[in-house]
Amino acid sequence: MRVLITGGAGYIGSHCNRLFADKGIETVVLDDLSDGHKAAVVAGEFVKGNYGDRVFMKQLFSQYTFDGIIHFAAFASVPDSVARPQRYYDNNVAKMLALLDEAVASGIKYFVFSSSAATFGEPQYVPIDEKHPQHPINPYGMTKLIGEEILADYEKAYGIHSCSFRYFNAAGDAPDGMIGEAHNPESHLIPLVMRAAMTGEKMKVFGDDYATKDGSCVRDYVHVEDLAEAHYLGLQYIMEHNISENFNLGSSDGFSVLDLIRTFEKILGQKIPYDIVGRRAGDPAVLVASNAKAKELLGWDPKRSDLETILNDAWHWEQHRKY
Ligand code: UFG
Repeated sequence: MRVLITGGAGYIGSHCNRLFADKGIETVVLDDLSDGHKAAVVAGEFVKGNYGDRVFMKQLFSQYTFDGIIHFAAFASVPDSVARPQRYYDNNVAKMLALLDEAVASGIKYFVFSSSAATFGEPQYVPIDEKHPQHPINPYGMTKLIGEEILADYEKAYGIHSCSFRYFNAAGDAPDGMIGEAHNPESHLIPLVMRAAMTGEKMKVFGDDYATKDGSCVRDYVHVEDLAEAHYLGLQYIMEHNISENFNLGSSDGFSVLDLIRTFEKILGQKIPYDIVGRRAGDPAVLVASNAKAKELLGWDPKRSDLETILNDAWHWEQHRKY
């Protein structure tokens, strides 16, 4: 079996590529390295290119036969999407259409899609299950919801089966320190907490006036290795049943920004310096997943997604980063 992994040099994609290769699946990573790292591709073949370039994709699909596509490549920063939505609609929607059209034309039948908890917007209830209405409150979330809708229509019309995963907050790194989270610029909470611990420079906590127990935003942190495992199970599932499904992927536990800082302070035995500043645009107060469907249908077991394990793996990575 051979799969194409777009964005396989990025954070979640690189962990998925490694896991698929460990399971004996041939992988071809396609990445333009706009936010990914060549050094993160520790298995399979690497091709540098743009998944929205129809001519290039036609050529790639004639060169290789793929059993499925795992589509990670996208812009994924909530605050950046609020400031620069055009980039998000172009990359995450227009280019995805080009990729899908070429996939359909070359007869590929299975597509695993990186969607997001950001498709739900401000939750009407938590934990958020798959029946929860989707009303995104930022352009990033909207692009991912459009992606899901396109996939539903493409299945009916063209028979391409998909599995959409709504990741909650991807976090953690490979426990052996080989690969990990490396965005530039970095906007995610955990790497910034680590940096504050290493440099002693103050980090910012965005908002302490949300309707949560301590006023800071609550998120559901899910280990990147558990996410990778879900992609393997999800692909097998849609191949076996010839259907499309979507799943919320989280730990089902919520932690506030201040909870997370305090947990890490306990692990380190050291204070993390921070200032409380105003809210960041586009942030929902609470995002916590129900992972019952993924557990039941896929047999998914998020073994590394407790907060201490995530923070320990992240700390190990930050101290030994290779890229
Ligand atoms: N935060 C801070 N200070 C920082 C950085 C973040 O207080 O320096 C806060 C944010 O305001 C938010 C929480 O920490 O309340 C988590 O922020 P992240 O930027 O780490 O993650 P997001 O929740 O914004 O977004 C992540 C992914 C998105 C995805 C979303 C879904 O980056 O792609 O989770 O839950 F859509």
